[in-house]
Parts: sequence; structure tokens; C-alpha cells
Amino acid sequence: MKGILVAGVFVAFAITVIDSLSCRQCYSPIESCSNEVTQCDEGSLSCVESLVNSTLGGSHYLYQNRSCSANNCTEGSTQVAFTVHVFDDQRFHFESQCCQAEACNDTSHETGTQVLTNTQCSACYSYNTTTCQEKTRQCFQGERCVHITAEFVNGTERNTVELKGCSDISESTCETLAPGNTTVGEFFFQSVKCENATIIPVTTNTPPASTGVKTSFTSSVFGSLLLLKLLF
Ligand SMILES: *[C@@H]1O[C@H](CO)[C@@H](O)[C@H](O)[C@H]1NC(C)=O
Ligand SMILES: *[C@@H]1O[C@H](CO)[C@@H](O)[C@H](O)[C@H]1NC(C)=O
Ligand SMILES: *[C@@H]1O[C@H](CO)[C@@H](O)[C@H](O)[C@H]1NC(C)=O
Ligand SMILES: *[C@@H]1O[C@H](CO)[C@@H](O)[C@H](O)[C@H]1NC(C)=O
Ligand SMILES: *[C@@H]1O[C@H](CO)[C@@H](O)[C@H](O)[C@H]1NC(C)=O
Ligand SMILES: *[C@@H]1O[C@H](CO)[C@@H](O)[C@H](O)[C@H]1NC(C)=O
Ligand SMILES: *[C@@H]1O[C@H](CO)[C@@H](O)[C@H](O)[C@H]1NC(C)=O
Ligand SMILES: *[C@@H]1O[C@H](CO)[C@@H](O)[C@H](O)[C@H]1NC(C)=O
Repeated sequence: MKGILVAGVFVAFAITVIDSLSCRQCYSPIESCSNEVTQCDEGSLSCVESLVNSTLGGSHYLYQNRSCSANNCTEGSTQVAFTVHVFDDQRFHFESQCCQAEACNDTSHETGTQVLTNTQCSACYSYNTTTCQEKTRQCFQGERCVHITAEFVNGTERNTVELKGCSDISESTCETLAPGNTTVGEFFFQSVKCENATIIPVTTNTPPASTGVKTSFTSSVFGSLLLLKLLF
């Protein structure tokens, strides 16, 4: 009898422990999203948080979703946070984390002062299309070049975004996402390629030697053509 009671108390305690998962829960396409944790439904195993803060195409797009999840976090890809700088003030900021059996904390990602370097990446973006019109982007300190294709939720739709630019993505995040088709929280990374930014070539006023050669070649061809024209 006593044994059963002890077992009963133990089971009740175990259930309480499982039930007590609390997560920050919030869905917001606007700035305010509460940091308060609230109790999850029974059967929740993790907390999942996703954020997209984008100014691509000149319009501000924000997606925030913090919720309890009935899934376990995937091993090796529990937290991702980075910004891709594409054109002047156009950037795509992305954060996602999965916290196994506990509430998530802020990833405290947004960077402070940014110092431009003499390095660059090719940059472009596209939604749902295959055309990505490239320009060059001068990188900030600590940034590397990325080429990312990812799917994310926009309202009720799933959009594919292709991004190239300078990013503060960490080397470990690159390694985690490099194999491709990786899910982090609500996001699906089809392909992620990172490489070091390239040094911006120094441009001088003296034309490179090859131009001279090309010019003389062109003029000799032109001259020959003129000669031919005169002959016939
Ligand atoms: C989105 O980015 C803007 C500009 O950097 C910033 O002011 C704002 O706080 C960000 N919003 C969120 C929810 O992170
Ligand atoms: C928020 O994320 C959860 C867990 O990934 C998902 O089930 C839910 O549909 C999302 N909410 C919205 C409004 O997209
Ligand atoms: C979550 O992980 C636990 C412990 O590894 C396992 O027992 C359980 O079946 C998993 N649940 C799901 C939904 O994957
Ligand atoms: C959040 O912070 C608390 C207090 O520092 C810590 O105990 C907890 O493990 C952290 N949670 C995650 C998911 O890192
Ligand atoms: C989200 O969808 C709206 C219309 O459905 C579109 O105008 C907007 O560009 C999309 N934003 C992103 C970041 O995909
Ligand atoms: C992107 O493609 C998906 C699937 O084909 C579609 O549902 C969605 O409406 C498209 N979004 C935009 C912004 O064109
Ligand atoms: C990712 O999935 C797509 C579609 O299923 C497939 O075509 C592609 O080869 C996969 N990529 C990798 C790196 O596995
Ligand atoms: C990239 O840069 C890092 C540090 O700046 C360096 O250690 C690494 O060797 C470079 N990788 C390549 C492929 O050049």
C-alpha cells in the first residue's frame, strides 16, 4: 500500500515535471513580442523561436513566432542567428532557436558599430525566382560571403528566398548548414555556402598593360579591314 502510494506520488511528480515546460509564446508581424513565459500544452518537448527582420526590396518585413513544440530539437542545429547585407540599407536578419525542454533566451545578436573593410562579396536577392541580379557589396569587419537558399513562412505561404551578400554568420553555423536541406526551427535551409570575402582590387589611374596590347591589336585589325576595303 505504502509502495503504491510512493509510486503514485513519484508518477505525479514526474508528470508535473514533464508538464511544467514553459515557453515564450508569441506571434507577431509587428514590433512588440512579449518576453513572458507561459505554460505549454501537455506533450510539449521544446520551445521554438523564429524571427525574420528584412528590409529587402525597400519594404520592412517582420515575422516573429515563439511557441511550444511537440518535437525534439534536431541535434547540432539548435541556434542560428545572422544578418545578410545585400545592397545599401537592404538586409535580411534571421534568427531561429530550438530549446530542448526549457525556455529560450535572447540570442542578443544585433551588432553595434560596423566598420567597413576593403573586402567585398557579390550580392543579390530574389524571391521565388531563379534570377538573382548581382552587384558587389563592400563588407563590414568580421563578415564573410554567403550564398543562401532558404524557405520561410510569409503569412500562410511558404516563400523561397535566395540571398547573396556579406554576412556575420559564424563559421560553426556555416558548417552546420553546409550539408544542405537543414531545418532550424521553422526554417528550411536548402543550401548554404560560405566563403571568405575577397580583397577589393586596388584601382590605379595608369591603365593595365594588357589594355595597350588589346588596343594595338584592335587598331591593327581595324587597319587591315580598312586596307581590304580600299583594295576592293
Ligand atoms: C528589426 O530591425 C530594425 C533595424 O535594425 C530594428 O530597429 C528592430 O528592432 C528589429 N526588430 C526586431 C523585432 O528585432
Ligand atoms: C509558430 O510555430 C509553431 C511551431 O513551429 C507552428 O506550429 C505554428 O503554426 C507557427 N505559428 C504561426 C502563426 O505561423
Ligand atoms: C524525444 O526524445 C526523447 C528522448 O530522446 C524520446 O524518448 C522521444 O521519443 C522523442 N520524441 C519525439 C516526438 O521525437
Ligand atoms: C537561459 O538562461 C538561463 C539563465 O542564465 C539558463 O539557466 C538557461 O539554461 C538558458 N536557456 C537556454 C536555452 O540557453
Ligand atoms: C510576403 O508576402 C507579401 C504578399 O504576399 C509580399 O508582398 C512580400 O514581398 C513577402 N515578403 C517576403 C519577405 O517574402
Ligand atoms: C512563392 O511560391 C509559393 C509556392 O509556389 C507560392 O505559394 C507563393 O505564393 C509564392 N510567393 C510569392 C511572394 O510569390
Ligand atoms: C535537397 O533537397 C532537394 C529536393 O528534395 C534535392 O534536389 C537536393 O539535391 C537536396 N540537396 C542536398 C544537398 O541534399
Ligand atoms: C578564411 O579566413 C580565415 C581567417 O581570416 C583563414 O583562417 C582561412 O584560412 C581562410 N580560408 C580560406 C579558404 O582562405
